[in-house]
Amino acid sequence: MVIAIDGPAGTGKSTVAKSVAKLLGLFYLDTGAMYRAFTLYALSEGTPLDDLKSLKRLLRRFSITITADRVYIEGRDVTTEIRSSEVTANVSYISSLEFVRKKMVELQREIGKNRDIVVEGRDIGTVVFPDTPNKFYLDAEVEERARRRLNDEKDAVSGTDLETIKKSIEKRDRFDSTRAISPLKRAHDATYIDTTDMSVTEVCDVIIRSVQ
Ligand code: DC
Repeated sequence: MVIAIDGPAGTGKSTVAKSVAKLLGLFYLDTGAMYRAFTLYALSEGTPLDDLKSLKRLLRRFSITITADRVYIEGRDVTTEIRSSEVTANVSYISSLEFVRKKMVELQREIGKNRDIVVEGRDIGTVVFPDTPNKFYLDAEVEERARRRLNDEKDAVSGTDLETIKKSIEKRDRFDSTRAISPLKRAHDATYIDTTDMSVTEVCDVIIRSVQ
């Protein structure tokens, strides 16, 4: 079984996906963390992000291990670092590159092979696992999404004000939903859930009831 959860930044995908995975005893995969990890890798290797030849070379030796709550690059724990504002500012661009997406989608399908899994991202229901009947598209008003990001310690945005976060979210959403390859969009057969006024438990209930 694959449960696909897509949607823009700050809609509660991670919290909900993790919770549903725990409640149903399924594996949890955060695909955004994979794009973030490669972005961090390129930045920390000092590779100019417009040097596509070097990025391709780097991607060939990129070795990621991802568990339900930790991310490792070449065995080094980068779980916190991939949430830095520098990574967040560059991840949309990196994830728009065709060769990067090709490799990540391959890895995601490999991870999902032979196991029951909850996968969250932007193109899970449309591209990565289009055949799953369990597709959900989470959305929320941008004001509320910015508020959630501000209160989410894992996003390492302390010291940033609501308006700045809101602008950054809007910019990333625009980029993610207008890119040429696998843009963020709702799959035609995905259940749309507006989480603006819903609690995590309520969203999980809708998903679990629908899956069951
Ligand atoms: O979910 P997140 O904010 O950690 O994702 C970081 C970025 O990665 C997001 O801005 C777009 C990209 N992404 C993607 O293109 N496809 C996915 N399946 C997941 C994330």
